[in-house]
Amino acid sequence: MHTKIDVEDVLAALTLEEKASLLSGRGAWETADVERCGVPSIVLTDGPHGVRMHDPKAESFSLDASLPATCFPTAAALGSSWDVNLLTRVGEALGAESRATGVAVLLGPGINIKRSPLCGRNFEYLSEDPVVSGRLGAALVRGVQSTGVGASVKHYAANNQETNRMRISADVDVRTLREIYLAAFEHVVTAAKPLTIMAAYNKVNGVHAAQNPWLLTEVLRGEWAYDGLVVSDWGAVKDPVEAVAAGLDLEMPSTNGASAARLVEAVRAGRIEEAVVDRAVTRLLTLINRTAAPQPPVQDVNLAEHHALARTAAAESAVLLKNEDAVLPLDPDARAEVAVIGEFARTPRFQGAGSSKVRPTRVDNALDALTQAAGEHLRLSFSPGFTLSGDKNDALLSDAVAAAEAADVALVFLGLPEGFESEGYDRDSIDLPEVQLRLLDAVAQVNRNVVVVLANGGVVEVASWQHHARAILEGWLNGQAGGGAVADLLFGRANPCGRLAETVPLRLRDNPSHLNFPGSEGHVAYGERLYVGYRYYDAQDIAVGYPFGHGLSYTTFGYSDLRTTVDGEGEDVVLQVRLNVTNTGPVAGKEVVQVYVGDVDASVDRPVRELKAFAKVALQPGESTPVEFELHARDLSFFSITHDRWVLEAGDFTIGVGASSRDLRLTATATVDAPSLALPVTWDSAIWEWLAHPDGGPILLRALREAEGSSVGTDPTILAMIESLPLSQLVTMSGNRIDTTELSRLLDEMTVESS
Ligand code: BGC
Repeated sequence: MHTKIDVEDVLAALTLEEKASLLSGRGAWETADVERCGVPSIVLTDGPHGVRMHDPKAESFSLDASLPATCFPTAAALGSSWDVNLLTRVGEALGAESRATGVAVLLGPGINIKRSPLCGRNFEYLSEDPVVSGRLGAALVRGVQSTGVGASVKHYAANNQETNRMRISADVDVRTLREIYLAAFEHVVTAAKPLTIMAAYNKVNGVHAAQNPWLLTEVLRGEWAYDGLVVSDWGAVKDPVEAVAAGLDLEMPSTNGASAARLVEAVRAGRIEEAVVDRAVTRLLTLINRTAAPQPPVQDVNLAEHHALARTAAAESAVLLKNEDAVLPLDPDARAEVAVIGEFARTPRFQGAGSSKVRPTRVDNALDALTQAAGEHLRLSFSPGFTLSGDKNDALLSDAVAAAEAADVALVFLGLPEGFESEGYDRDSIDLPEVQLRLLDAVAQVNRNVVVVLANGGVVEVASWQHHARAILEGWLNGQAGGGAVADLLFGRANPCGRLAETVPLRLRDNPSHLNFPGSEGHVAYGERLYVGYRYYDAQDIAVGYPFGHGLSYTTFGYSDLRTTVDGEGEDVVLQVRLNVTNTGPVAGKEVVQVYVGDVDASVDRPVRELKAFAKVALQPGESTPVEFELHARDLSFFSITHDRWVLEAGDFTIGVGASSRDLRLTATATVDAPSLALPVTWDSAIWEWLAHPDGGPILLRALREAEGSSVGTDPTILAMIESLPLSQLVTMSGNRIDTTELSRLLDEMTVESS
């Protein structure tokens, strides 16, 4: 592990060529070194749910040639845990394994918003909601960085699809960017200070993210005060000079000196100042120092403990979608026959494909774990039912049906085979494979106690088949210990407490991005604007398969005594939300208490409700606990295009607290005070904008009333009729009878004030 360097001295000693050479990688996973000045090379590697450290002994570059590492549940699973402490613990373990293998920066977490269920990489992302993505992303970063390893929050920004990912322009209006697609990044950057941010492949509004001064400098550094390093996604840089000028610090992987040569030439030709290169080099040298060997050194990694943590994490992340007549949990000591059906029970799918693929230290499957945990009277049979290649195989199907017929309960393991979702391409359907649905159908004909266990990264359609299952456990791609976790959940040794971080739509075409995904001719229009996921389904009151935030437990929870208090006003407003939650059922369990806010009096369109806070609480049977949240101005604000800033408007806000976006148990209204912001007015502003202006309104009204031979200023009907006319046109149309002296004076004064 490297030691610290003196940034100023080293910078002064480096030649321009050496400096430029540091701004792109050496090989696939290392930064360049400059031995002459003592600048070491450091290792960056994937990420995000396990350390995929390239095996130095492997002969060639391959995503599979990596050292064994704990494969934790993927982000689709971890996001469904809604558990910040858990994400921090997983981050600590990832950091420890990174340290142990000499990794300075772990490339993760991925916090892009799940805009469409079709995105092939949704398994690597946390949620459709920026608060869930931001809070959990920050927790993971804190965990990783507590070990001295840097995290790399990716992919900044608006990388919400894989189709044409290196060229597509995500065309997103500024308000939507701010409120949805940048919000999680903003939270992680300001709350957890990740050592690096990874600039995405795609363009944002026509400009490559890795060469985008607005994203990399104006917003990230200017507004969010980010002082870490920006690294490109692997191969995202088209023009290294533009990239460095825009605020990128490190291009990955190596370009074998080509980028450095272009930078040197650009400095010599005066196209970029050397100071700009120095700025990027300083950030790289600072990163080297920030990831230097910690004192005292970290402990050895305990892989058995990490495997146990991966099992806990998988159990905390699984979502019990339905559980009719409490068919789950199964009693491991019952005198009963259980037919375990589905190849996934024996050959689990526990992670996604692409750069995040980890070589696990071991893999547990559910079949073995169930067999081990079953008491002496419980008899388990296993039938694969289908092959993962999807071939039609009638013999496998009929064996499974025969086993189901003879059993009291059929546990059917279904999911998406590996090729169905991956980095690099998107899905074109959210359906389970046909062969699996046929199997389920046939099993349900002969057994009425069917329990489906799902393994998938992106959500799958359930509406067409869920009547065949009395219970559905969504296990996600749950890491190397997922098999054990599923057995724990099915036998009630663990109580399901995951909640959906992404809506399960009834039909793919209900999704708000559907007509605009994945775009065409190099552009994808984010036409649904803010109305992503539940923000759309709830605004339109559209039926869904399972709503955002949903998840059942083996116990039940009661909500009571909601109280809200408001202190302060405007930017200083603090809205306290307090309530009690009680475990009203028979076993210990965890509830995810969710706080949704709606702005009743907004002057712009706003979603009916948006998640603003959540907390996971553990309760013994009969136990109650107070739960408190504190909301601030920002939680109540929208991003105004006119004012180019976050704006809090005075008025009533609905506060809904509950167990999903469709299961609000308690609601209250809180009234907030905030100064009203005057819209800036110009000659081009409409009459209604002038009238709403505190200074301009009275002046205009006076001028209208005094205009000769006109009743505009005195007749409210005429005033309403012309309210959308720009002032300049009204003046012209009035035959210049409106005296504009006072109006001009006001506009002059405003120009002086704003300059
Ligand atoms: C992915 C990144 C990853 C990088 C390095 C890229 O293709 O988009 O998420 O970190 O490769 O493997």
